[in-house]
Amino acid sequence: MQPQNFYDFRALAQRRLPKGLFEYIDRGTENEVALRALRDSLDAIQIVPQALTGHGARDFTTNIMGKELALPLIVAPTALAGLVSHNGEVKLGRAAMKAGIPVCVSTQSITAVEDIRAGASDADIWFQLYMWRDRKLTRELLDRVWASGVTTLVLTADTPVGPNREYNTRNGFAMPMTPTFRAGLDIALHPGWLFGVILAYLRTTGMPTYGHYPKEHQVAITGAPSSEAVALEERLNWDDFVALRQQWRGELVIKGLLSVADALLAQKLGADAIVVSTHGGRNLDSAPTTARVLPDIADAVGEKLTVLADSGVQRGSDVLKYVGLGAKAVMAGRLPLWGLATGGETGADAIFAMIKREMDVTMAMLGLEKPSEIAPHIIR
Ligand SMILES: Cc1cc2nc3c(=O)[nH]c(=O)nc-3n(C[C@H](O)[C@H](O)[C@H](O)COP(=O)(O)O)c2cc1C
Repeated sequence: MQPQNFYDFRALAQRRLPKGLFEYIDRGTENEVALRALRDSLDAIQIVPQALTGHGARDFTTNIMGKELALPLIVAPTALAGLVSHNGEVKLGRAAMKAGIPVCVSTQSITAVEDIRAGASDADIWFQLYMWRDRKLTRELLDRVWASGVTTLVLTADTPVGPNREYNTRNGFAMPMTPTFRAGLDIALHPGWLFGVILAYLRTTGMPTYGHYPKEHQVAITGAPSSEAVALEERLNWDDFVALRQQWRGELVIKGLLSVADALLAQKLGADAIVVSTHGGRNLDSAPTTARVLPDIADAVGEKLTVLADSGVQRGSDVLKYVGLGAKAVMAGRLPLWGLATGGETGADAIFAMIKREMDVTMAMLGLEKPSEIAPHIIR
């Protein structure tokens, strides 16, 4: 089957990946209300065409924080993307580079940022930070990140503790991989993944694990953290942000804000950008949808802060809808992972081409030349 859309790529990924890994990517949290609400919220937005205003070609370029993107799209940070395909984070970096969009590397990636840089040297690499409890280790990590040529740092603010994802526990999905009977059977039923990903690592760099964590501080993703030093920081607060602002010389982004008050505070304390996000409906099951809060946040901060958005993007029209509600650009998490799972770097290339094509058709239907022209077409 030649995948035509997000759902085809997802279906192919489901066949290729062990259930534990597939569900880790695909699912939400608790009753998965937030996850379902994302799709509903995007589907509920309608866009009115302006008739007889056609253009020969659409221009997707977008400027954010002084840089030009080929599309208003950014690869969201996703932990463990390197488990989806061998060297998955490098492949995502290369695909994003070719597509002309930034790629945000997670603190919890398999491959360390230096190696991703080596494999995708001209990519616009951003780095997502889960601040570790041990601030000295965090500072050392950020020095490595800066030295690898990253200037855009994304502090994740919506994950003070590990979310309640019962399916991970049921599936025995843990990092570093722990051999349970259930997980073993799941892997045995997916030999393509076992040989193509795990054995490929074992033959080269060894058993995959978190690339940025100091060896003595590896943690399990489902169970309690095995090390206090690099555990999620539940005391994370605005003082930490101020300290980070003093330390980080490049652009600083806060990801996971959902209120006007927080957005205004972020702007006041020196953030360059924020990401309005529900973490893909994966963290707080009663969170409002991005679509619901984004317009008020964008109105409140105006041009003083770059507003980005994510969660639930499956179609080119979804990207345009968030842009129409006030985002300058949009992050996508699961979308590129399904491309990566399906065809490695080529699959990620195909996903970016597909989203661009879908955006192009929607924009042509609406009579838009640029994505930024969409706002007046949106019916709220
Ligand atoms: C498998 C997976 C892992 C993720 N890991 C991280 C992470 O390490 N740090 C982070 O800030 N967000 C993480 N996220 C959230 C994404 O950055 C993004 O906010 C979310 O995926 C957007 O929703 P979407 O997947 O519907 O596009 C993760 C999301 C997924 C699906």
